[in-house]
Amino acid sequence: MLTATTPAPLAPYKSLSNEELATRINVVRAELGPKLLILGHHYQQDEVIALADLTGDSYQLSKLAADSEDCRYIAFCGVHFMAETADILANRPEKLADRNGERVTVFLPDMAAGCSMADMAGIHQIEDAWDQLGEVLDTRDITPVTYINSAASLKAFVGKHGGIVCTSSNAQAAIEWAFARTNKVMFFPDQHLGRNTAAGMGIPLAQMPVWDPFAPELGGNTAAALQQSRVLLWKGHCSVHQMFKPEHVAMFRAKHPGIRVLVHPECPREVFELADESGSTGKIIRTVESAPPGTKWVIGTELHLVNRLKQQHPEQEIYFLSPVVCMCATMYRIDLAHLCWTLENLSAGTSVNPIEVDEETARWSLVALERMLEVS
Ligand code: 13P
Ligand code: SF4
Repeated sequence: MLTATTPAPLAPYKSLSNEELATRINVVRAELGPKLLILGHHYQQDEVIALADLTGDSYQLSKLAADSEDCRYIAFCGVHFMAETADILANRPEKLADRNGERVTVFLPDMAAGCSMADMAGIHQIEDAWDQLGEVLDTRDITPVTYINSAASLKAFVGKHGGIVCTSSNAQAAIEWAFARTNKVMFFPDQHLGRNTAAGMGIPLAQMPVWDPFAPELGGNTAAALQQSRVLLWKGHCSVHQMFKPEHVAMFRAKHPGIRVLVHPECPREVFELADESGSTGKIIRTVESAPPGTKWVIGTELHLVNRLKQQHPEQEIYFLSPVVCMCATMYRIDLAHLCWTLENLSAGTSVNPIEVDEETARWSLVALERMLEVS
């Protein structure tokens, strides 16, 4: 039973070695057994991944939270929107009924682990854009699609407006689902995932205007451009994947003939177009795992994942597609000190950093998330 007592402070954990922290985390894992599930996103540091019960990309992690049976606590080693999604899916009405109303508590070991892309679309900006669109278009002919990298309030907006959530592994299926309902799609917050996916479906770039929430009116577009659009993109991006440039691809191709370029679809269009293969973090891992020894890869996604693939596949030659260090600074905030602090407080009956989405937001977000789970 969790109480609201004062938590043990974090500071002393910061001076402990990773070995000591891992030992202490394992004590709590043994004590709580199947009641505790530690989930880790592929961008986490190696020492966190080593202690995760299950790892995955955003889609796989949502499924794991949705399908969890015995656990009552999820320590989410990822970022805020992922923990929110886990809370919504693990506590959806049929799951609560199965557990006689007992909730699963989801913890984010460091509350500062957000996502800069998700922060590029606030709910008031989305509502304002929708209202402005309503002045020049019939919004009943637009289906909103939100990337899972967004706050729960945006997922709820999408649920209320007949839309769907997607991840990097099912964006095409989600956009196809949307086009089966309306002639237009509004895709947020990642312009690159939206553009790369829709272009792959044959939608001309000229029919994908970008909505800038800071433009004085109509997101910086003319009414005619919006009326002729098929996919309306939001001016958001991932600061990590934005760092990969076409010249990096050219440099690796010149230096390593035959090298395969493998990128995440959050990369800008001009990089994505030059790649041989692309996909979610889960797909990137599967692609490398199934390649024959001696394959040369240059990979455009977060540094910790690429470094781990390098270590795990010495039989292949793997490079990182940027001369500079680009890592997800917010994912990196989850370290063993924060995880141990969260788990030892939990073991002492004190809740630190629980993520609980309010009932109304969770209800509408679930509508959009369930649509995503159905099309995937
Ligand atoms: P994946 O769904 O591919 O794991 O992507 C999550 C993410 O945030 C990539 O930047
Ligand atoms: Fe967000 Fe980019 Fe970090 Fe993914 S890598 S969590 S999109 S900031």
